[in-house]
Order: sequence, then C-alpha cells, then structure tokens
Amino acid sequence: MITSNQFGPKGWTPELLGSLHNKTYVITGANSGAGFEATRILLGKGASVVMLNRNQQKSVAAINTLQQEFGAEAKVKFVHMDLAALDSVRNAATTLLATVSNIDALICNGAIAQVAKQEHTVDGFESQLGVNHFGHFLLCGLLFERIESSQGRIVVVGSNAYKMGKKTIQFDDLNFDHKYTAWDAYAQSKLAQMMFAFELQKRIEKAEKAVKVYVCHPGASRTNLLKDTASTFNKALWAVLSRFIAQSAEKGAWPEVMCATQAGLEPQRIYGPTKRAQTVGPVGECPLDEVVLDETLATKLWSVSEDKTSFTWAF
Ligand SMILES: NC(=O)c1ccc[n+]([C@@H]2O[C@H](COP(=O)([O-])OP(=O)(O)OC[C@H]3O[C@@H](n4cnc5c(N)ncnc54)[C@H](OP(=O)(O)O)[C@@H]3O)[C@@H](O)[C@H]2O)c1
Repeated sequence: MITSNQFGPKGWTPELLGSLHNKTYVITGANSGAGFEATRILLGKGASVVMLNRNQQKSVAAINTLQQEFGAEAKVKFVHMDLAALDSVRNAATTLLATVSNIDALICNGAIAQVAKQEHTVDGFESQLGVNHFGHFLLCGLLFERIESSQGRIVVVGSNAYKMGKKTIQFDDLNFDHKYTAWDAYAQSKLAQMMFAFELQKRIEKAEKAVKVYVCHPGASRTNLLKDTASTFNKALWAVLSRFIAQSAEKGAWPEVMCATQAGLEPQRIYGPTKRAQTVGPVGECPLDEVVLDETLATKLWSVSEDKTSFTWAF
C-alpha cells in the first residue's frame, strides 16, 4: 500500500531536473503528444534527443518547432522508424548504433490505441500488439548492449488500460481473429509491454547487467492518441470528455522524463499521476495490479515475442 508520495505533495515535476548536458535520450513516437513534450523538457535541460518517428514530414515540423524554442543548435534529430514494420525497426537500430555512442535512456513511448477495426502490421500482427509491443520488444533487444555500455535505462510507457480489457495475453488468439474489440486489443498490447518490462527487470538482475528498466504511464492526457485510429464515436466522446477529465500532454510527459532521469526509483513499480484513479495529479508511485507480474504469462510472452520478432535475447 502506498501511503505517501516520495517526491512530496506536488509529486515529481521537471523542477527536480538538473543539467542533462552530455546525456542522450532516444524516444519513440516523439513528434507529438507526450513524446514531443518529453523531448522539449529534456532539450530544455541541455540533453541530446534522438526521435524515432515514422512520419518524416511531422518530424521535420516538430524539429522546426523545437529549434524555434531552443535555437538552431538544439541537439535534436530524428531517425525514421515505423514500429509497424520489424525491418524498419532493424534499420533504425542499425542507423542509431552507427551514429549514437551513448544511450542514457530509451523511452518506449510511441503507440497506437483504440484502433476501430482489426488491422495488421507489415509482419501480420494485430496492429496495437505489433506496434506497441513487438516493435518495442525488438528495438530494446537490438539497442540493449549500447544502453548497457552507457549504464542507461529503458523506460516503458504503459497505460492504466493494462488492468482493464481481458487482463490476459490471448496466446490462442493473439490477433483477436475471433472477436476483435478495439479496447481489448489495446489493453492486451499495453499489458504485454508492461509484462515484458517487468520480466526484463528480473532477467537483468539475474544476469547482473547494468541497465535499469522502469514502467510509467501518462494518466489521461490530451494528445493525438485517438485521432487517427479510434471510431468516430470514441473520438467524439474523448474530444468532449478530455476537456474535463484529462491533463495536458506536457504533464503526461512528466512520468517518462522522471523514469529516464530520476535516481531512487524501484523495480516492480508503476509511476504516473496518482489522483482520480491515476488519471491526473502529482506524479509518483501508483498501485500495481498483480496481473502484470504473472510469471507464467510473462515467460510465455517472452518466448512468443522472441519467436515472432526472430530476435533472441542473450540472457
Ligand atoms: N494520452 C493518454 O491519455 C494516454 C493514456 C494512457 C497511455 N498513453 C500512452 O502514452 C504514450 C504516448 O501517447 P500519446 O498520448 O502522446 O499519443 P500521440 O500524441 O498519438 O503520440 C503517439 C506517438 O506514437 C507515434 N507512432 C504511432 N504509430 C507509430 C509507428 N508505427 N511507428 C512509430 N511511431 C508511431 C505517433 O506518430 P504519428 O504522429 O506519426 O502518428 C506519435 O508520435 C503511448 O504509449 C500511449 O499508449 C496515453
């Protein structure tokens, strides 16, 4: 039971950040929403940021905006990566490893949500599971050694959705061919991402590797998340509801920046806004639903993910 916020009544805020000069952060899906705001906060403290984005035009626009704010010398660039295509993830990792000597944190932020009708990634996975989980699973594996040599971190951006939906990984129907619903498929994908993160923490500890893995969520934040993917009804509903129940995209970025930078965080925890059912409010530790720590599911998910991505971890 969590009795108080370790960062005090205001929770964690970017005011707690010191200089991040000489630090390099890699963020997936950083041209909008929480990923963009995280980039802004990190750049504002002197860090370098590499955005792994799928859309060149939006990325150029995002970099222009950041350069207007921080000057043309702002240390931000983008590498093309589409999480919906494993070959694209492999190419992006190759480019990154050839051009970035240090990764202080990889923030697995990019995602799609509430995809109205069943869709598939290039590799044939249900789109949310493919983009949110399999794409990041492979990326983390390909970048792991560089993160380790930097004594860096992996931050997995989860969602309160992990404890909703079916609260399991449907190994017999991963793609929801039987009865697709946008909500259940999104919830499965976020549960898979978080389950992977907690399993990775355990394996790292056992193998005595020098990488920290932290899990966070942005609560309910006003971003583009449902804009391209959700049903017309869900989009309209969220457009109205979010005005009353959600916080800014910037506040939604705080937990991921915190997990990328703050000392004294713990494994087997989820960090995010702590009020109104963990949707808004001071950032700190949130209650963790045990489903995400299920060892049997996590072990099976790990081996299924290795198989689906054709990537085998060394430990
Ligand atoms: N907003 C919320 O209330 C909320 C709640 C719970 C969890 N989250 C989580 O917060 C994280 C950030 O989302 P957000 O709310 O900031 O939404 P967002 O504004 O839509 O940002 C998501 C980012 O992911 C990128 N992306 C989508 N598909 C991709 C792909 N195939 N390859 C590479 N990048 C891709 C998007 O790029 P494009 O611009 O090209 O689309 C966008 O930059 C996600 O992990 C989400 O699950 C958000």
